[in-house]
Amino acid sequence: MILTPRNVLTSTPMEPFATKVAILAQKLAEILAEKLGHKSSFFQESCLPSTCYLRLNRYPPCPIPSDIYGLMPHTDSDFLTILHQDQVGGLQLVKDGQWIGVKPNPEALVINIGDLFQAWSNDCYKSVKHCAVTHPTKERFSAAYFLCPSYETVIESCSMPSVYRKFSFREYRQKVQEDVQLYGYKVGLS
Ligand code: OGA
Ligand code: NI
Repeated sequence: MILTPRNVLTSTPMEPFATKVAILAQKLAEILAEKLGHKSSFFQESCLPSTCYLRLNRYPPCPIPSDIYGLMPHTDSDFLTILHQDQVGGLQLVKDGQWIGVKPNPEALVINIGDLFQAWSNDCYKSVKHCAVTHPTKERFSAAYFLCPSYETVIESCSMPSVYRKFSFREYRQKVQEDVQLYGYKVGLS
């Protein structure tokens, strides 16, 4: 069989996964907004299939015995992320100032709040710093779905007084890129 990009994508479980998590991401955003007293169509209007994306992560084994990052510590630059990790493990997050491992659970997805939800919720929800460490002998895979708005979308906090000034997603992405070039890491919300 000749593998073209089209049949590679449709012959993997990616399409049903993307469709299902897209619906889940919208529902979660709605519930989280409702909890803050905001019944709004904002997420449905600004986060479209064409603005959200799915990333497949592959972490080759790394036999060097100290902690080697597969993915550097970061927060996600979206509203929220839905992550499916395999059974190898390696996802870590900061809780109460300490790095803790997120034990793989084949029955569960990991949901991360991203920077945009933190700004929109006026700090009620916090984007979680996380990273992925490599395994000494096993290859690891994960799939992450990012609920992102269009670049034109302006993120303004849902309550006053607001902690952050309003900004467009384009501005935020540009700032992240500039910070990475300048400092070698993402500074995040400020
Ligand atoms: C990401 C991410 C973690 C993982 O893709 O942003 O944090 O476990 N992935 O692969
Ligand atoms: Ni991430």
